[in-house]
Amino acid sequence: MENYKNKVVIITGACGGIGKAITEKFAAADATLALCDIRQDELSHTVEKCRQAGATVYNDAIDVADEAPVRSFCETVAQTFGTIDCLINTVGIVDCPGDVEELSLSMWDETLSINLTSAFLMAKYSVPHIKQQGGAILNIASVSGLANQENAMIYSVTKAGLLSLTRSEAIDLAKYGIRANAISPGSVETPLLEAAVDQAAQLFSRTRDEQWQVWRSQYPTQRFTSPQEIAELALFLCSGRATNITGTNFVIDGGLTALLPER
Ligand SMILES: NC(=O)c1ccc[n+]([C@@H]2O[C@H](COP(=O)([O-])OP(=O)(O)OC[C@H]3O[C@@H](n4cnc5c(N)ncnc54)[C@H](O)[C@@H]3O)[C@@H](O)[C@H]2O)c1
Repeated sequence: MENYKNKVVIITGACGGIGKAITEKFAAADATLALCDIRQDELSHTVEKCRQAGATVYNDAIDVADEAPVRSFCETVAQTFGTIDCLINTVGIVDCPGDVEELSLSMWDETLSINLTSAFLMAKYSVPHIKQQGGAILNIASVSGLANQENAMIYSVTKAGLLSLTRSEAIDLAKYGIRANAISPGSVETPLLEAAVDQAAQLFSRTRDEQWQVWRSQYPTQRFTSPQEIAELALFLCSGRATNITGTNFVIDGGLTALLPER
C-alpha cells in the first residue's frame, strides 16, 4: 500500500460518506491529516477515530464556500505542519432539484458556491504551499458532470465545472510539480445517495424499495460503488505511483456511462 508518512493531506467534507472513507484510508497510510467539514459534531467524531488509529490531525469546522475561513484554514495547516502536499475536495450537495424555469437564483448561487467555488477557494489558498515541493489535487466530481438527469440541472452544471477546473489546474500547475485529477463516481452508498433515492421516489411516485431497485438495475454491474472503492482510487491518484497522471477524470460507475438505452 502507498505510504504517506510526512505528507500533509487536506480533506474537505471529511465526515461525509465519501470524505470519511478517504480520511480513514489516508490515516491508515500514515498521512498527516488536515480535515474540515461544516458539521462540528460529526467532524469531532471522525477526528477522534483517526487519532485512535494513530494519525496526527488538525481540524476545523468551516464553511468551505466562505473565503475568509478557507484562507485561514489553509494558512493554519501550513503553519502547523510546515507544508501542504495534497488537497482532496469532496464537499458537495445534491439536494437542488429544478429545471431552468423552476430553479431559484438563490439555489443556483448556493449550489455553485458549495459544489464548485469551494474547490476553487481551497486550491487558491493551498496551492501557494503545495507548490513549494509539488503535490496533488483531487476533486470528487460525478458522472452528472458528463451527462445530465431530468430535474437536476444545477448539480450537473457544478460537476461539469469541477471537471473543467481540474483540467485548468493540471495545465497551469504542472510547472510546479502539482498534479490535478478528478474522480467521477456513479451512485455511491452514502447518506447523500439515501437522500437522492428518497427525492427520486417522491418525484416518480414510487416506494423507497422500488426506487432502489430501479436505480440499481440500471448499472451493468447491478450494484453501487462503495465509499472505500473511491478512497482506494484517491490513495493511488495522490501518490508517487501516479506521478505522470494529471488533468484526467476517472469514472467509477459500474459501467453506467458505457451503456446506451435498450433498443
Ligand atoms: N454519494 C454518491 O452517490 C455520489 C455520487 C457521485 C458524486 N458524489 C459526490 O461526492 C462528494 C461526497 O458525497 P457524499 O456522498 O460523501 O456526500 P455527504 O453528504 O455524505 O458528504 C458531504 C460532506 O460535505 C459537508 N459539507 C456540505 N456543505 C459544506 C460546506 N459548505 N462546507 C463544509 N462542508 C460541507 C457535509 O457536512 C458532509 O459531511 C460530493 O461532492 C458528491 O457530489 C457522490
